[in-house]
Amino acid sequence: ERLEYEADAAEKSGYDHYMLKEIHEQPRALRQTISGRIDPDAGSVDVEVDLPPEYIASIEEIQIVACGTSNYAGRYAAELLESTVDVRTTVEVASEYEFDGGRDPWRTLVVAVTQSGETADTLSAIRRAKRAGARTLAVTNTLGSTIVRETDDSVFIRAGPEIGVAATKTFASQVATLTLLAVHIGRERGTLPYGRAQELLDSVRQLPNAVQSVLDAEDRVREVAREYVDSDAFFFIGRQLGYPVSLEGALKLKEISYDHAEGFAAGELKHGPLALVTEETPVLALLTDGSRPKETLNNVKEVQARGAPVIGARTDAGDGSSAGAGPGGADASSYVDVDLPVPAIGDLEPLVANVYWQLFAYHVANEKGRPIDRPRNLAKSVTVE
Ligand code: G6P
Repeated sequence: ERLEYEADAAEKSGYDHYMLKEIHEQPRALRQTISGRIDPDAGSVDVEVDLPPEYIASIEEIQIVACGTSNYAGRYAAELLESTVDVRTTVEVASEYEFDGGRDPWRTLVVAVTQSGETADTLSAIRRAKRAGARTLAVTNTLGSTIVRETDDSVFIRAGPEIGVAATKTFASQVATLTLLAVHIGRERGTLPYGRAQELLDSVRQLPNAVQSVLDAEDRVREVAREYVDSDAFFFIGRQLGYPVSLEGALKLKEISYDHAEGFAAGELKHGPLALVTEETPVLALLTDGSRPKETLNNVKEVQARGAPVIGARTDAGDGSSAGAGPGGADASSYVDVDLPVPAIGDLEPLVANVYWQLFAYHVANEKGRPIDRPRNLAKSVTVE
C-alpha cells in the first residue's frame, strides 16, 4: 500500500492533486499545442488538417457541438470564428443538437470538441450530422478515440493526459487549437486580413508566458480563496470572450467545491440575477481586452453598490499592477476589492484570466477538504447519453 502511495505521489510530481499539477502544466501544454504550427512571417497556420482549399472556400456554416468545458471552449472559438471565417457559427450543447443545414449539407462543417473523444452525447450529435450529409471535424486530445474514427478529419490539441475530473489544461489547449484553426480557415478563405491574423497568432504565441505569470501569483489567489471561502454563492460575469470564461469559472467552482456558482453575461445581471447579489456573494469579473471591459465596469459598479465583494481580473497597465489606465478604465481599481493583473496579449486575455478562476476554484475546494480529483457524482468521461 505504501508503494502504491509513493507511486501516486510521484505521478503528481509533488502536487497534492492532479488538478493542481495540470493547472501548472498549462504553459508546457500550450507550447506543445502550438509547436511547429505557426508560420509568423506568412501569417499562416498548419494544424495538420486535411480540409481542401476548395472545401474551405465553400463552407456556408460552422456548427460546434460539445459538452461541459469543451462546450465553453467552443463558445470562445465561435466568437473568433465568426469574425475570421465570416460565416454563421453556432455552438450547441451536444445533447440538444439536431442537424439543421442548408440545401447542401456538406457545406456545413460540424465541429465536435471533445477532450476524451468518447463522450456519448457528442458522438451521437456527430452521427446525426453525418447521417444528414454534413462534413465533420473532431478537435480532441485523444489519438485513436472513437470521435477520430467517426469524423471526416481531426485536429489534436496535444495537451497530454489529463487525470483530474475537472478539465483545466485541456480547456486552454482547446481554445488555443481552435484559434489556430480559425486563423487557418480564415486565411485560406481570404476573409482574414494578414494584419489581423498576425495579431491573433501573436496572442497565441504569448499565451504560455502570460499563463505562467498568473501561476506565479498563486499565493495571492490562495489568500483570496481563504478570505471568501464561506460565501453564500459566487457569481462570474463577463462579456464577449469573457462570457464563456465566466461560465467555465463557475463550472469549475461548482464541480470541485460543491458551492453554488453561476456565470452570467455581464449585461444580463440587471435582468434578474442582480436580485441574488448581496454582501455574501462575491462577484468575479472579467475586465480584460476581448471582453468589453468598460461596459462590464458598469455592472461591477452595480454589484458593488449592493455590497458584493468584487474580484476583478484586469489587463495589466504595464507597470506590474492593473491599477493604471488600461482597459477596464482608469478608475476601475476603486470598484474592485481584489485586483488581479492579466498580461496584455489581446484576444486571448480572457483565457489567461481563466487560470485565476481555476486556481480560485482549486483553493476554495481545498480549504473545504473536498476530494478534488474525484468530485462526487461526476466522471472524467461520460459514455452514456
Ligand atoms: C464530463 C467531464 C467534463 C468534460 C465533459 C466533456 O462531464 O467531467 O470535465 O468537460 O465530460 O468531456 P469531453 O471529453 O467530451 O471533452
